[in-house]
Amino acid sequence: MSPKAVITGWGKCVPPVELTNQDLEKVMDTNDQWIFERTGIKSRRISHVEGTDLAELAARRALACAGLEPEELDLIVVASTTPELLCPSVAAMVQDRLGAVNAGTFDLNAACSGFVYATANITGMIESGFVKKVLVIGAEKLHIAMDYRDRSTAILFGDGAGAAVYEATEGDAGVLAVDLGADGSMGYTMVFPSLGTRGEPYEARPIEDVRLYFEGQPIFKMAVKGMAASTEKTLERAGLTVDDVDLVIPHQANARIIDAATRRMGIPPEKVFTNIENLGNTAAASIPMAISDAAAAGRLHPGDIVAFPAFGGGITWGTLIMRWGQRTEPVGTHQGELPPTDATVFDLLENNLRFFAPLHGRDSADPII
Ligand SMILES: CC(C)(COP(=O)(O)OP(=O)(O)OC[C@H]1O[C@@H](n2cnc3c(N)ncnc32)[C@H](O)[C@@H]1OP(=O)(O)O)[C@@H](O)C(=O)NCCC(=O)NCCS
Repeated sequence: MSPKAVITGWGKCVPPVELTNQDLEKVMDTNDQWIFERTGIKSRRISHVEGTDLAELAARRALACAGLEPEELDLIVVASTTPELLCPSVAAMVQDRLGAVNAGTFDLNAACSGFVYATANITGMIESGFVKKVLVIGAEKLHIAMDYRDRSTAILFGDGAGAAVYEATEGDAGVLAVDLGADGSMGYTMVFPSLGTRGEPYEARPIEDVRLYFEGQPIFKMAVKGMAASTEKTLERAGLTVDDVDLVIPHQANARIIDAATRRMGIPPEKVFTNIENLGNTAAASIPMAISDAAAAGRLHPGDIVAFPAFGGGITWGTLIMRWGQRTEPVGTHQGELPPTDATVFDLLENNLRFFAPLHGRDSADPII
């Protein structure tokens, strides 16, 4: 029997500076009640450091949790829609910082489905025997692509990183089935126009081309149907039904999307883990951050069947069905922290608010609030 890919370590890095709904009320026409009712979000984080720094700390915490040394890793994969650089990859930078000298590295972009795509890739490599110990990281600094006066996008997204260590293990536990899907013809519904090579250099572009372009309602509908259909398909591949599922840890897109998708499958809310309220949608980082929070909250038990459905830009979707391993407690903890900051959230967003001001009938030199 071929080995299975089992999660043996988990960790997250949540940057300290919060952007609350009340903060957003100061810069756009919105209110806490509207945002919370429509999305389940009350606050999200704005990172004062690069996404690579978040990725590194999440990785160190996941390695300590697994009780592994960086030199033991065969592979590091980072899923990100907002990498610090395209080359070198975030994974290569993290490898250097950790001293993971025996690991290959690559980044992968499947937007909010990135963690599921990365895990699907490395599962195949573990099952074939090519690698034995792998670190998968989801890391995002999404605030870089937001216009913080655009109420239809900026309310949703936040920064953060999560990591999981996978090890080859004999036995019943591990990834049981995966489903990956995409519909590139709908890609126009969520676009980061400024973060690729298309068109003029950044400075020469119209300001409206620099921010996230987003069509909330079609994405909402596709996400509900897509996550439900993909989960059902993956369960069937694993020879299981929705009744066998002990816990769903979905991509934290929007509380209403999660609610509607799991309701559609007949999965009761008490079997669904969410942590979107204080983190927002962190794209590729959301599932690994949620794994850490679910473990800390005692929601994962040995042998549990766990479903991880995701949906995101591309458009892409995917699901993992996993049987959790024996361990639910960390082997060790990493004590490091991010460098401290005195910056307020408006210090961190000042350049952004000035840059996009002309799109909202304001002068860039005006007070930001
Ligand atoms: C973005 C989203 C929250 C908007 O919610 P919605 O219920 O679709 O809201 P609508 O866009 O229909 O807007 C309804 C009204 O609220 C207004 N509105 C929009 N954003 C608002 C805000 N932040 N605060 C207050 N009012 C707002 C709209 O202007 C509109 O007003 P109108 O009826 O006078 O025209 C929702 O579409 C969504 O979550 N989409 C999926 C996003 C997502 O998770 N994507 C990631 C997937 S990986």
